[in-house]
Amino acid sequence: MSCSCFGASTVLQKKHDKDAHQAKEDEEGPSIAKTKNFSYNELRVATNNFQRTNKIGRGGFGTVYKGILKNGTKVAVKPLSAGSKQGEREFLTEIDIISNVKHPNLVELLGCCVHGPNRILVYEYLENSSIDRALLGPKRSIKLDWERRSVICIGTARGLTYLHEELVPRIVHRDIKASNILLDKDFQPKIGDFGLAKLFPDDITHISTKIAGTTGYLAPEYVLGGQLTMKADVYSFGVLTLEVVSGRSSAYTNYGGAQKLLLEWAWELHEEGKLLDLVDPELEEFPNDEVIRYMKVALFCTQANASRRPLMSQVLEMLSKNVKLNEKQLTPPGFFEGSGRLSGKLSKNKLSETSTSQQMSSFPITITQVTPR
Ligand SMILES: Nc1ncnc2c1ncn2[C@@H]1O[C@H](COP(=O)(O)OP(=O)(O)OP(=O)(O)O)[C@@H](O)[C@H]1O
Ligand SMILES: [Mg+2]
Repeated sequence: MSCSCFGASTVLQKKHDKDAHQAKEDEEGPSIAKTKNFSYNELRVATNNFQRTNKIGRGGFGTVYKGILKNGTKVAVKPLSAGSKQGEREFLTEIDIISNVKHPNLVELLGCCVHGPNRILVYEYLENSSIDRALLGPKRSIKLDWERRSVICIGTARGLTYLHEELVPRIVHRDIKASNILLDKDFQPKIGDFGLAKLFPDDITHISTKIAGTTGYLAPEYVLGGQLTMKADVYSFGVLTLEVVSGRSSAYTNYGGAQKLLLEWAWELHEEGKLLDLVDPELEEFPNDEVIRYMKVALFCTQANASRRPLMSQVLEMLSKNVKLNEKQLTPPGFFEGSGRLSGKLSKNKLSETSTSQQMSSFPITITQVTPR
């Protein structure tokens, strides 16, 4: 598989392949023709005719089914709601962005299917579903001890570091949230759902864009000013980390005995020196210092001023090594209160002025001392 977005393809094709390829490119754009194409019938058979019993989840763009291909490979099959313009856009973005990118912490897109009005994405199947199911839902399916939670945070940070700092062009995911972090059979996390992602050329500091994503995870400068940088993903990652540590969803506003967001409550507890009150009551044993460090890293990630948030590589270092954080540098978080999945025109206001070239700068002073575990 290769994709035009990442430079010239090295695949040489025979003449007759070329004509079919050209026809597809004309119809759908360049990347889809270079992705593995599944036939509709193959996916119908794999999912038992898209039967309800094969349903593994439902998102904004339709139902996700478990399927088994003829060769025995388990797959997740995601038909996008037919006829929706946004669905079509996300379908093409997903293929463009991810079909050429491989990393142990990114969900692999195996291919796609275009059949009449149907647009279907086919992914590797992840045995342990998503973090929201495993951890945040009313029926928690699996017991996640601290070690597993720490692996989830670190693996997700590693996937994001790869997207932000190791790829050219870099990628901003824009929809980091619990339902988009899937868990494999060993509970290793994999980031999925690149439908909203944007490629980020090396020489620019931010993109002005229509906002899209899921509230609760959205950085204030992005939702209020439409200014997108990697730091919007860092913010979402911070919220996600608080969810993983607390076992509580950021979608609610009933925390701290009042109408508070999870992040608001976390900051309040931090100010009172009671951060351990945030920890999931179901976690029986955990290393206090390490868990507190994770929560503080999450607070560094969610600071209102994007330029003060660390880069993902710094986050990774702060999570995986026993570092002492320089808390004097920590400033209050920013929030955006709203609900649901968001996608629409941005509104300009004062926060957009905070977006400057500094937003891409790193924040080395976060760490004062690094000591190996
Ligand atoms: N590759 C996969 N392997 C296993 N389960 C998956 C896979 N992809 C998705 N799922 C399951 O399907 C659910 C729905 O996914 P989907 O991405 O459609 O919606 P969502 O993330 O909940 O919402 P949104 O539409 O905002 O992205 C996920 O939460 C997950 O439980
Ligand atoms: Mg999703």
